[in-house]
Amino acid sequence: MNQNSLHQPLSRRQSAWRAILPVLLSLPFAGVAVAQSASQEAGKQIAAQGTAQGVAACASCHGAKGEGNAAFPRLAGTGEAYLQAQLEAFGNGSRKNPVMQPMAEKLTPEQRLAVAAYYSRLPAPMSVSDMASAKPADAGAWLATRGRGKDQLPACAQCHGPGGSGVGTTFPPLAGLPAAYITAQLQAWKAGTRPPGPMALMVSVAKKLSDPDISAVAAYYAALAPSAGPVAVAQTGTKKGQP
Ligand code: HEC
Ligand code: HEC
Repeated sequence: MNQNSLHQPLSRRQSAWRAILPVLLSLPFAGVAVAQSASQEAGKQIAAQGTAQGVAACASCHGAKGEGNAAFPRLAGTGEAYLQAQLEAFGNGSRKNPVMQPMAEKLTPEQRLAVAAYYSRLPAPMSVSDMASAKPADAGAWLATRGRGKDQLPACAQCHGPGGSGVGTTFPPLAGLPAAYITAQLQAWKAGTRPPGPMALMVSVAKKLSDPDISAVAAYYAALAPSAGPVAVAQTGTKKGQP
């Protein structure tokens, strides 16, 4: 919006927006096929080499294939819209992290999009599943798969998919994320140092979890092997995202 438009009456500004909105919405879809491979290449390059503006190669921390490790969360196979939103949030400071904030600030919106698209299309890492060792009586396994009725706390799996595989582009995978990372994210939602995300779903979940709950559920998901990729929303039927 330019300087002049701010001085126009509200109704005129609104109708101007109404006229321009369809154009804005159609822009990302213009020439998608050509743009896509160029953007894929750009994303791949940032991942492997960083940028000329001083952003470090993502791969140096998140792994050569975005698989993550004990200290850094995985990015491979995580939803594109979710990854992009996290980079926005680090970039504008609403999600706080001393390592990621300065890097995200230096990425342009196009670079964030490109690198999010790149990682979302990489296959989630596979390793030997440890599911058999999760006992049903485990506090962590119980919260993850059953929730807690008396507190109206839905099972994590209801939104994050069976085995923490992730669902669609909104619900990120949890399987195989470092326990310390999961713990820090849940505490961040309690403390308000990570943006609330869609419908503040995680804020209300986190507020119902005690410290022992958080340790238990973080240990449970950290021990699960990542699955092949997010469950497609269309195949999962009802209830996803509806606590
Ligand atoms: C020096 C190490 C380092 C580098 C290089 C790095 N990251 Fe990160 N990244 C981290 C850490 C640490 C976290 C965890 C932040 C937190 O605890 O909130 C993280 C978290 C993230 C997240 C949030 C993941 C989630 O599941 O919510 C995204 C997205 C991300 N990084 C993308 C990138 C991209 C894209 C690049 C390359 C441009 C990159 N990172 C480079 C260390 C790094
Ligand atoms: C009602 C739906 C819902 C339920 C139930 C739910 N989540 Fe989430 N969760 C979300 C959404 C949506 C996000 C993405 C938030 C964002 O975009 O910042 C998320 C994100 C997360 C993240 C961040 C992942 C990352 O890569 O940074 C963690 C960790 C997490 N949830 C853990 C849990 C745990 C543990 C439980 C169960 C105790 C749980 N969630 C239950 C909806 C849910």
